[in-house]
Amino acid sequence: MAADRELTEFNAPHLARFADLLRQADAQQRLLKLVLVAYQGGVADIDDLGASLQRVIVRPVLLREQPHLSFLLRFPTKDITKNLPVADALALIANWLAGGAFRNAHLHTPTEEVQLAFSKKGKASVRVGKPSNAEVPAAGASASASAATRPAPGTPAAVSAPAAVTTGHNRDKHRFLDPSRPFLHELGVTDAQGHVLPTMSRKWKQINKFIEVFAAALARSPLGQPPRDQQPIHVVDFGSGKGYLTFAIHDWLRHTLHRDARVTGVELRDDLVQLCQRVIGKLKLDGMDYEQGDVRHYHPAALNVMIALHACDVATDYAIHLGIRSGADIIMCSPCCHKQIRPQLLSPHPLRPILQHGIHLGQEAEMLTDGLRALLLDAAGYDTQVFEFISLEHTNKNKMILAVKRAKATSSEEVVRQIQDIKAFYGIQEQCLEQLLRADGLLPA
Ligand SMILES: C[S@@+](CC[C@H](N)C(=O)[O-])C[C@H]1O[C@@H](n2cnc3c(N)ncnc32)[C@H](O)[C@@H]1O
Repeated sequence: MAADRELTEFNAPHLARFADLLRQADAQQRLLKLVLVAYQGGVADIDDLGASLQRVIVRPVLLREQPHLSFLLRFPTKDITKNLPVADALALIANWLAGGAFRNAHLHTPTEEVQLAFSKKGKASVRVGKPSNAEVPAAGASASASAATRPAPGTPAAVSAPAAVTTGHNRDKHRFLDPSRPFLHELGVTDAQGHVLPTMSRKWKQINKFIEVFAAALARSPLGQPPRDQQPIHVVDFGSGKGYLTFAIHDWLRHTLHRDARVTGVELRDDLVQLCQRVIGKLKLDGMDYEQGDVRHYHPAALNVMIALHACDVATDYAIHLGIRSGADIIMCSPCCHKQIRPQLLSPHPLRPILQHGIHLGQEAEMLTDGLRALLLDAAGYDTQVFEFISLEHTNKNKMILAVKRAKATSSEEVVRQIQDIKAFYGIQEQCLEQLLRADGLLPA
């Protein structure tokens, strides 16, 4: 008896950790599947079926607009499917595992594979590893089919494109947010019945795609993993405009993830600030504020996530600089116009006939500006990706620079050399972000 109690006490934290990772994966829409194997017997409902159970495969599905988990019980000659609302399903799985009904449980997400195993003596252990490629969904890089990835300096493997789960036929990939949430109506995205207004359907897709990218970044960052996933998180959104994305991220973090989140919108235009403050007041939103401010002079107390979507020209550089300086774990920006570098560009000899066309020069200036920003983020200790986060049919401002802070500092000398070579090749004298980082001593000479 005493031995049983000792074993139960030993296993409890491992089971709780696994249950927590499963719950989070589902809540963050990262759950690809859970596979339970090595059935030990003892569950009456299963034993009554009279055949030897090979495995149970659990996947997220949406039934009548409600999230469920679908259980596929695989027997040698038949499969049985059972769907349960998420809370019931998680309770059932926890019950099975606590009762030792399965020897192994494998949790698959786009970014990790978690294994719960019981030894012959019944001792539980949890191991978190990298996913096998087979488990990454084809739509996994759904942030963009054309996502461009780049290896982090010093790491041989490319950082995988941001992946969030769009579970094929069942879960609506545009539904990271619940359209019936009141803020969407207040901001004019939905009607009083919670239906997206036809004129706002592009915005709706953009907002959801943005949350999808953010969810994948959060999952990769220590901010989204134990123990920091239990700690408060502060997000600052610069140039937050009418606040579509600011309110969305607040709602997703607090309402969907149940995180202790504070979200601050910083906006230059006073009329927009007043509008958003009115919505916050009317909906009595906790953990949200909206401030009039200029990103060039703003000093946040502390922040974990820096967002700047479509902040004009060098406002993006100021925002990235502020994120780096504040030690943000995640920096997400979608640049807007690119004015600073264009007048400085020399056309290197072999490129002259191509760059004589103004449109090409503009594209070159954009690519160089954002390419240099990504390299500067690399040099400042971030794994950085540049990709299209939504198709051009929804917005022409569809480029995303996503940076997740590395757990360990790596040498940045090689990246800094690359930056200098590129600048010398194109005759670039000044790039705003580089100047700001240098002034702060945040880049090696
Ligand atoms: C194109 S809007 C984007 C709004 C919002 N982020 C979105 O994606 O829906 C850019 C916003 O940035 C604001 N802005 C421009 N320069 C700024 C600065 N230096 N500091 C703060 N906000 C700025 C503008 O007033 C405008 O509302």
